[in-house]
Amino acid sequence: MKKAKTKKTLKSEPTKKKTASKAKLDPTSQNRIIKLINSSLNIDEVLHLSMKLMEKTLSATASSILLHDPETNELKFYLATGAKKEILKVIRMPADKGVAGRSFQTGRTLLIPDAAKSSFFYKKVDDKTKFVTKNLIATPLPIRGKRIGVLEVLNKAQGTFSKQDEKKLKNMAAEISIAIDNARLYDEVKRAYIDSMLNMSKAEIYRDVDTGKHIERCGEYALRLAPEFGIPEKEHENLRVSMMMHDIGKIAIPDAILLKPGRLDDAEMEVMKTHATKGGEILGQAPLLQLAVDIATCHHEKWDGSGYPKGLSGNNIPIEARIVSICDVFDALISVRPYKDAWPVDEALAHIKNESGKHFDPDLVNCFLSISNQIIKYNRKHQDTEAY
Ligand SMILES: [Fe+2]
Ligand SMILES: [Fe+2]
Repeated sequence: MKKAKTKKTLKSEPTKKKTASKAKLDPTSQNRIIKLINSSLNIDEVLHLSMKLMEKTLSATASSILLHDPETNELKFYLATGAKKEILKVIRMPADKGVAGRSFQTGRTLLIPDAAKSSFFYKKVDDKTKFVTKNLIATPLPIRGKRIGVLEVLNKAQGTFSKQDEKKLKNMAAEISIAIDNARLYDEVKRAYIDSMLNMSKAEIYRDVDTGKHIERCGEYALRLAPEFGIPEKEHENLRVSMMMHDIGKIAIPDAILLKPGRLDDAEMEVMKTHATKGGEILGQAPLLQLAVDIATCHHEKWDGSGYPKGLSGNNIPIEARIVSICDVFDALISVRPYKDAWPVDEALAHIKNESGKHFDPDLVNCFLSISNQIIKYNRKHQDTEAY
């Protein structure tokens, strides 16, 4: 995930200035944590690394970030380190229970030197995880005058946590809050872009010869190929939705050509080819739509450079566009179109194989052929409801 900006003034955290002057983390750790938070890494990776650095600085054995769910008024473990992190992921606790709950409710940082003797301590989490909490500090995560959760460090390696540790954790909580808030804002904006893309794809379906099922199927095929080519899971939804937009440029093609029941002549084909460039223009230059733009613009490029609109070749064609190209062609071949019958699957696969190194990326062809059974199975289960 590209990180959003994190350089904000945290007006809602009045004690930050006061504490920052005294109980700073040692400069190396603090700089490393702030650098991490400002980096372009995935937010969960950033937070996890920040927590590990925090543990090292405070000599803590484990740490966790709990976020508040306003719908259920519970705190749930968003991230945790230590041996019990997997079990913690599914644990929720009432937002007014335990040390974390009390810190969340009161907005205070709580230093608990002996958990067994604390009246706030919520033993059910330890009972479920078999973790033994000896001592801890919990501090709220503040953002814009509200609290979004709690940051905890647990079990000092030797002795118990100090007041200095408490202040350091509080400083860290301010940085972590900003990082989480920015990631949430980024996700909201991304969601809005994806929703608007899905709406745009409906315009394409209404006008085009392609059906919604064809577009959905191609998206699913693409997701089966993506992991093999280094596209991380967090990008898959964007790939699937961007894939659905690959022919959006066709909405700018005149009906006489787009809906012509027979084959296009050369002049008409030249007009039809402009749908790739027009697709990129329609999607515009918003950074969040860059993948959709790349796919719409490059899905007719060919590995050997004989495609359009730019005649790109090889790895100069974005991998996502190469993936979409092979999925789109295969699905079109085995589907009925107004100008052709469906090809038998064997012939379509032979065509894909024959185009290795010409139309298609050879590695992609190998991968596609190796999972063709899955792809055909998906195709058979998700056939078009309207016959041409
Ligand atoms: Fe196209
Ligand atoms: Fe298509």
